[in-house]
Amino acid sequence: MTNPVTIERKDEIAVVWTDNPPVNAISHAVRLGLMEAFESLAKEGDAKAIILACKGRTFFAGADISEFDKPVQAPHLQDVFDTIEGMKVPVVAAIFGTALGGGMEATLACHYRVADAKARLGLPELNLGIFPGAGGTQRLPRLIGVRGALDIIMTAKPISASKAKELGIVDHIAGGDLMAEAKAYARKLVEEGKGPRPVSRLSVDGTGVEEAFAHYEAFAKSRLKGRTSPLKALQAVRAAMDLPFKEGLALELKLCLEAKDTFESKALRHIFFAERKTRKIPGLPEDTAVHEIANVGILGAGTMGGGIAMCFANAGLPVTLVEANEDNLKRGLATIERNYERTVKRGRLSAKQKNALMANIRGSLDMANFADCDLVIEAVFENMDLKKEVFRKLDSICKQGAILATNTSTLDVDEIAAETKRPEYVLGLHFFSPANIMPLLEVVRGAKTDAGVLKSALQVGKRIRKIPVVSGICFGFIGNRMLSPYGREAQRMLLEGASPKDIDSVLEDFGMAMGVLAVYDLAGIDVGHKIREAMRDNKPDDPTFFAAGAVMNDAGRFGQKTGTGFYRYEKGTRGRFEDPDALALIRKTAEDLGVVQDPPGREEIFERCLYPLVNEGANILDEGIALRASDIDVVWTAGYGFPRHKGGPMFWADHIGLDKILAGMKKYREKFGPLFWEPAPLLERLVREGKTFADWDKENA
Ligand code: CAA
Ligand code: NAI
Repeated sequence: MTNPVTIERKDEIAVVWTDNPPVNAISHAVRLGLMEAFESLAKEGDAKAIILACKGRTFFAGADISEFDKPVQAPHLQDVFDTIEGMKVPVVAAIFGTALGGGMEATLACHYRVADAKARLGLPELNLGIFPGAGGTQRLPRLIGVRGALDIIMTAKPISASKAKELGIVDHIAGGDLMAEAKAYARKLVEEGKGPRPVSRLSVDGTGVEEAFAHYEAFAKSRLKGRTSPLKALQAVRAAMDLPFKEGLALELKLCLEAKDTFESKALRHIFFAERKTRKIPGLPEDTAVHEIANVGILGAGTMGGGIAMCFANAGLPVTLVEANEDNLKRGLATIERNYERTVKRGRLSAKQKNALMANIRGSLDMANFADCDLVIEAVFENMDLKKEVFRKLDSICKQGAILATNTSTLDVDEIAAETKRPEYVLGLHFFSPANIMPLLEVVRGAKTDAGVLKSALQVGKRIRKIPVVSGICFGFIGNRMLSPYGREAQRMLLEGASPKDIDSVLEDFGMAMGVLAVYDLAGIDVGHKIREAMRDNKPDDPTFFAAGAVMNDAGRFGQKTGTGFYRYEKGTRGRFEDPDALALIRKTAEDLGVVQDPPGREEIFERCLYPLVNEGANILDEGIALRASDIDVVWTAGYGFPRHKGGPMFWADHIGLDKILAGMKKYREKFGPLFWEPAPLLERLVREGKTFADWDKENA
């Protein structure tokens, strides 16, 4: 294996280069290479200054996460960075791209930092269930104070080079050629006789820190509820104040290794890689040509069309937004503008930027304006006849090679594609509401969808900052199909006497962003009801099936938008309240349907919601609707609020044991009969063979 680290010596300034594509992750080979390079430069002793630099597209993106499951191999990053910091001549970091995690910590071990103007620096480790373990919790508070360090560590968000300069992390921002400016900076240090400047020798500024600790302790308990790594991070930062550097470093390492071995960290790492795997499609040749997408058309400026238009406008793509009539177009554009204005008010967008984004969206009443679009997404009402008519029109208007997509949430994409003369250019692009915010994008592959079209959709998905997941065609695709048994049981348990709060609190204590009944209230109870009514012929033969939702719908209790649903909402408060009227309506329905009042306990609520969810995931996998179990995990963490630190439903199921899920399914089959409780054949097979969903992925995806 070639050494990813090399030394360039042209003059008195040595450059230690790392070249480890794609993102210069600090793997074992890089650690070894860096150690050898700095030790050899120390031994030779004739370099007057050293620059730490990277080739390729970015400075170090951090430790190599793929090595976290393996035993730690020397040298440890802390030792490499100690060696760098201990050099007798100044070491300058030349930062560009994203210096993240161990990458940012590498810069802190250097004595000076020069950054490209577009560089970003950050310590995102909490997103992986660990925290900075290569000196970050000890050096950053010494360099910029505890408050600033906590902000960077606890929010896990990268900062710009200019912010880093303002905070005193970066010494010089390179407006031009980074390496030329880093060398000039190093040469100047030499000329001025400035030597090493180890951060570890600085003392920690502890003024006013208790307030910052209290703030982030509260943050950890609320926003990062159920997680242990944030508390460990706080403990390590405190050690920077209380302990000498070396002892603080030792504690940081001990706590970080503990964090790395938790389920929380394994789950978050699983999601990290799972989100990147979704774009890899088995059987799709590497060299499949993609279609360039330079401008986009969107039909329908309602709830979804408007949000979708914003996604593309935000990514700098010109959008043609077509509506059926003047009023709806005006209303749609006004909603988009209002959304942007809200961002301006929050200070996250300037008025000028807002105007530029609005200028990317051209409203029109004429579908003929789609003629030159490379991709057109339809977001009109959920009605098959209308969609078919629209696709026939699009087919006749749009240029050859243009991709036609539908945002349908339930309709058969193949049936829609069959209306066109180009079914290979048709697919589903299922956005989630609010489309400009939710990161998930289900890319629905039709029977005839061309490989290049699919690949283009995945690429454009990434370009608009979505996480695209491929789904086959079935009712509800991956996400909504799994939502059905999960929500069905929640609604059935209402009839048995549980209150909405009883149910949602169990789910929220598990870590769901929102309980499922609160989700129905948010999404609109009428929306789901309409969809179920449309499938009347295929409805299961059980009068209790979503009966609680039906009674809410019939009473005009659509959820948040009407102020009442499963809960009651009060204007001006963000809270939701248990509503005696809702409880009475549900009780009456239970009586009419003859449901015995026997409220389930917390454990039963938990099992009856989550086990069918996993069971349906197994069916989806077995039928080839999802390509891999990890894709299902991404759908549920990115689109349905399943806790990332539990890794998604399939990863979590592997963790608690598939035999437990299977036993649970059988237990409730005994009680309620087979209609809803038949274990998935794949679940039974995996349990029989002593395997997991992760094994299934290894063997099949
Ligand atoms: N380790 C291993 N692989 C990594 C990696 C890392 N730190 N960062 C990225 N990769 C891999 C990805 O898995 C992906 O691999 P494939 O091509 O095989 O799918 C490839 O690099 C490219 O990644 P992206 O698709 O994400 O590329 P991008 O250009 O969209 O984003 C990035 C680049 C901003 C660097 C992003 O990859 C990222 O955020 N990486 C993780 C950064 C991070 O969390 N660093 C902290 C690591 S932990 C640490 O450093 C602990 C410590 O204290 C010592
Ligand atoms: P909506 O009712 O808010 O918007 C639909 C818009 O399409 C209306 O503004 C209407 O005037 C316009 N329209 C209707 N026929 C048209 C035509 N022939 N030409 C031009 N414009 C036309 O509906 P919404 O909620 O945006 O849904 C749109 C699609 O997105 C549906 O297929 C729906 O199933 C799907 N979807 C909806 C989600 C949601 O949460 N609302 C989530 C995911 C998908």
